[in-house]
Amino acid sequence: MTHSLHLTINGMAQTIALDDPRVTLLDLLRERLGLTGTKKGCDRGQCGACTVLIDGRRMNSCLKLALSCDGAEIATIEGLASDDRLHPVQAAFIEADGFQCGYCTPGQIMSAVALIAEAEAGLDPERVREGMSGNICRCAAYAGITEAVLEATRQLSAGAERKSA
Ligand code: FES
Ligand code: FES
Repeated sequence: MTHSLHLTINGMAQTIALDDPRVTLLDLLRERLGLTGTKKGCDRGQCGACTVLIDGRRMNSCLKLALSCDGAEIATIEGLASDDRLHPVQAAFIEADGFQCGYCTPGQIMSAVALIAEAEAGLDPERVREGMSGNICRCAAYAGITEAVLEATRQLSAGAERKSA
């Protein structure tokens, strides 16, 4: 039996025919839709490499059945940059050396985007470390990751202030 799945992925509405209801969102993105920026690390909810935003909330896409996301808006690393301009979080990861091999980086960046949006009380190094603790980096680039998230927070709040002035 084929299931019809409606998703908006990086702003584009799509209808996808799914013949296997057990397909995870991660496998759908990578293997059916060619969005391989989202990485598969553990495939069991332990590493955060597969983090995407579902209706604005960060989730491990390896733990979500694609069918359970019907009607949702999904954001992946491929949708972050606009008009050849990196998203401030992407730029901050480069600036702060927030990676080594880069395998965990798409998940780190998507998690950071959501963390910055969630953090109404602002962020400090401890809050960043706690808020990013679901994203494991096997290269242990944690110092750079923390600095990148703090730098992106500064950039985004300065941008928001400029807009409201
Ligand atoms: S691949 Fe999903 S949490 Fe590791
Ligand atoms: S940069 Fe290599 S796993 Fe994080």
